[in-house]
Amino acid sequence: MNPALPSWLVYCRPGFERDCAEETQAKPVEANENSGYLVLQGKAKLSYKQLAFARQLLRLHGEVNDLPERDRLAPLLAALPPEPQQFGALYLEVPDTNDGKTLSGFTKRFQPLLEDALRDATRLVGDPCLPRLHIFFPSENRALIASSDPHNSNDALNGIHRVSMASDAPSRSYLKLAEAFEVFLDKQERAQWLKPHMTAVDLGAAPGGWTWQLVQRGLKVTAVDNGPLKGVAASHPDIRHLRQDGFKFRPQRAVDWVVCDMVEQPQRVATLVTEWFVGGLATHAIFNLKLPMKKRVSALQAALDSIRSALNHKGLRHRLEAKQLYHDREEVTVFLTRSKR
Ligand SMILES: C[S@@+](CC[C@H](N)C(=O)[O-])C[C@H]1O[C@@H](n2cnc3c(N)ncnc32)[C@H](O)[C@@H]1O
Repeated sequence: MNPALPSWLVYCRPGFERDCAEETQAKPVEANENSGYLVLQGKAKLSYKQLAFARQLLRLHGEVNDLPERDRLAPLLAALPPEPQQFGALYLEVPDTNDGKTLSGFTKRFQPLLEDALRDATRLVGDPCLPRLHIFFPSENRALIASSDPHNSNDALNGIHRVSMASDAPSRSYLKLAEAFEVFLDKQERAQWLKPHMTAVDLGAAPGGWTWQLVQRGLKVTAVDNGPLKGVAASHPDIRHLRQDGFKFRPQRAVDWVVCDMVEQPQRVATLVTEWFVGGLATHAIFNLKLPMKKRVSALQAALDSIRSALNHKGLRHRLEAKQLYHDREEVTVFLTRSKR
């Protein structure tokens, strides 16, 4: 690592390290396949929101190798950077791998010890506006010391927003839409944009996980799919199931939300959502772009660029964000809204 160059520590879904590096256009210094993290150098600025494959974006300050098992505290305290002088929170983190999971017991035990030591040294104060200190353990005897800007990072531990499963949800995809609402909307937006009696269309709805997520939030849903809805979603009064082609269906009246999880080429889904927005048929959208191809980054960027340029061409102000969520596999979830709030 060249200390003269800005360095970044980025977390991603294991197996997507190359996509993540490609998106940043920075030089990968450490990017082992399936490790779930990367060290990058050479970019003065990166924007967390603009990186679809990054779960977390951190400034890397240094690392400690050969941490002794008996006393990790002293070498870590000695390795803290002089700047930032104070941190708003401490995150002890591990990669999203099987090895990482075995380390999380240790990080939980270690957290209060390190917090106390940092408070005693007045380096840790509870101000949420200050940078957060992240100590990332790729293994039990190695630590990467980094910090996050609260305005340019993810506030969830390990970059993973945890959401809970409803026991009656028709599919595990329920979690994906729950996570999307956590990641893309702030608290105020969730309260304003997901109100009871609002309306939604779910394209490619079966067996009904996304539809159920919307209904749980009080929305009335038109679920479009030739396949059957399952369990509670099959007969709920707030769900209207239409066995139609999701690419052809259009609502008679504009809805608050359109969501789409149809397995199709990303460009086809992007064009569909663009048509809904240009036609004024929905205010907000969440949709998945499936990326089974090798050149995922360019396929994703082409799809997003086509939406952006079509809406700009029509003079439609909008916000467009894409993230590979924890519950996304070979896919990325996209949020689009006309509302600027
Ligand atoms: C990944 S599943 C959706 C899972 C759903 N989001 C959930 O939470 O349970 C994709 C669905 O899209 C539907 N689908 C694919 N092409 C479609 C089309 N042209 N019109 C309507 N539905 C379609 C499939 O029938 C399938 O049920």
